[in-house]
Amino acid sequence: MTNPIQIAIDGPAAAGKSTIAKIVAEQLGYTYIDTGAMYRAITLKALNEGINMASNEEAGELLLRTEIDLQPTEAGQLVFLDNEDVTEAIRTQHVTKAVSEMAAHSLVRERMVELQRQLAEGRGVVMDGRDIGTHVLPEAALKVYMSATVEERARRRYDDNKNRGIDTPLAELQAEIATRDKMDSERESSPLRQSDDAIFLDTTNLSIQEAADKIMQLAKERLK
Ligand code: DC
Repeated sequence: MTNPIQIAIDGPAAAGKSTIAKIVAEQLGYTYIDTGAMYRAITLKALNEGINMASNEEAGELLLRTEIDLQPTEAGQLVFLDNEDVTEAIRTQHVTKAVSEMAAHSLVRERMVELQRQLAEGRGVVMDGRDIGTHVLPEAALKVYMSATVEERARRRYDDNKNRGIDTPLAELQAEIATRDKMDSERESSPLRQSDDAIFLDTTNLSIQEAADKIMQLAKERLK
């Protein structure tokens, strides 16, 4: 049997990373790690506790007294915040709008990266986020940078929301995604950028299956 590898998938908001990463992880029998969910969980707690979201120190202190856990199940990954299931609660617009500010803090990122490396240690993983190839798993055997036009990403998010009974106007989603892209790529602490050794995958005109097939093909080449 071949040794398991680490696969890093980065890219801007709503590029399809998590949907595709989940499929690839399942096909390879690997663990899927959604790092965005971890930043969303600490953001939810910060909002609930009313801490000053602009303060690196307050955010870092909050994380020190917080437990975040990801549990893979048959039905998908569950997210626990201090032992409470917040899988759904972290997907609201309220959290989505606040998460980039929280994720920009260096004290938050240091602790999250430590946790993410622990989760990936010694096993086959597909990890998605913004800084996985550049910072969290620099030795990953396969790095993919996935993107699509902002119009297409907003349209996909709109369709997803509609299926979940949420009706946010398309223009609002597009503006929110563009703002998050800007904040995530302009922050000082490990900003969103394509790693030099990552393969660029434009999913604008690809179906979910086509994008997953492409990554599976790249993974198999590295598993030989
Ligand atoms: O992938 P997502 O939309 O769930 O991520 C939510 C936010 O978390 C995103 O806007 C930026 C931040 N994030 C990050 O800074 N680094 C990561 N590795 C993953 C997410």
